[in-house]
Amino acid sequence: MTEKGEKKIISLQDIPGIGEKTLEKLRNAGFIDLMSIAAASVKELSEIVGEQTAIKIIEVARKALDIGFETAADVYERRKKVVRLTTGSKALDNLLGGGIETQAVTEFHGGFGCGKTQVGFQLAVNVQLPPEQGGLDGACLFIDTESTFRPERIKELAEAVGLDPKKALENIIYARAYNSDHQMLLVEKAAEIIKEKNIKLLIIDSVTSHFRAEYTGRGELAERQQKLNRHLHMLQRLADVYNLAVYITNQVMARPDVLFGDPTAPVGGHILGHFSTHRVYLRKAKANTRIARIIDSPYLPEGEAIFAITPQGIRDVED
Ligand code: GTP
Ligand code: MG
Repeated sequence: MTEKGEKKIISLQDIPGIGEKTLEKLRNAGFIDLMSIAAASVKELSEIVGEQTAIKIIEVARKALDIGFETAADVYERRKKVVRLTTGSKALDNLLGGGIETQAVTEFHGGFGCGKTQVGFQLAVNVQLPPEQGGLDGACLFIDTESTFRPERIKELAEAVGLDPKKALENIIYARAYNSDHQMLLVEKAAEIIKEKNIKLLIIDSVTSHFRAEYTGRGELAERQQKLNRHLHMLQRLADVYNLAVYITNQVMARPDVLFGDPTAPVGGHILGHFSTHRVYLRKAKANTRIARIIDSPYLPEGEAIFAITPQGIRDVED
């Protein structure tokens, strides 16, 4: 009890006037705690509980958690919690400023066979390593949209870094997304499992394929964009709230027809816009080597790195 005699708000149920039905609706949409409500937008919650309730509960949650303006010192404290996950290649890690970081969405894009999925598998294994070995001592949530997940390959990668392959497989929570709505639902429901299973890495491979396949007409592009933006916003929020690393892939075709401008511009436009914190463009090079390039990152310097896809996984190129 506070001095005014109000009940102290420590969980969603404590918000005055919030009924079982509303709670249920919020829970179903993945809002299971005060933090997720506090970090939500009115627009987003309005769709679930109506505008009036949305405005009210966001305010109450923010107040209860003491969220609002913060000082640069607070931001600095929060940013201090950012940790980095190794890709398996020092060169690639260096390009990324020390690895894939938490509180950020990292997107790898490139043509087929350039290694986006292999990098994802490697990260799913590496996240389980202790920090001394470049891991985050956590589990991985893997959302697969293309049915290209291969547990046999995960086993190989796990053995190569000295993890028990059986345990490594158990620490990867897998979900197949059947369409874009299902994909969004899986992410909306992810909060619970993230907490429960100590998830430190969320992967969506690929984030765009369903959206591309489902929204093909010219008139539908705006709607597709809106949905994707909401999806990516949700991912960024999970990354912030739970200090997660988020890795997403996006297949783009190289465009040999483009003589001027950016030859890597994906057909149909940059449908991810500028939502990912870090964007990396991958392309094939000699044999099993690949070249990664940073595309418009807010604080990573531009540059390229070369790495290899070996039987043991992602590694530096031996010279
Ligand atoms: P799309 O999903 O088609 O857009 O491609 P992607 O970018 O996801 O490519 P992916 O990660 O599937 O990379 C495929 C490449 O990785 C292959 O061309 C192989 O060179 C390599 N690769 C895949 N599996 C293995 C494996 O088990 N062992 C080894 N040594 N290399 C592999
Ligand atoms: Mg792939």
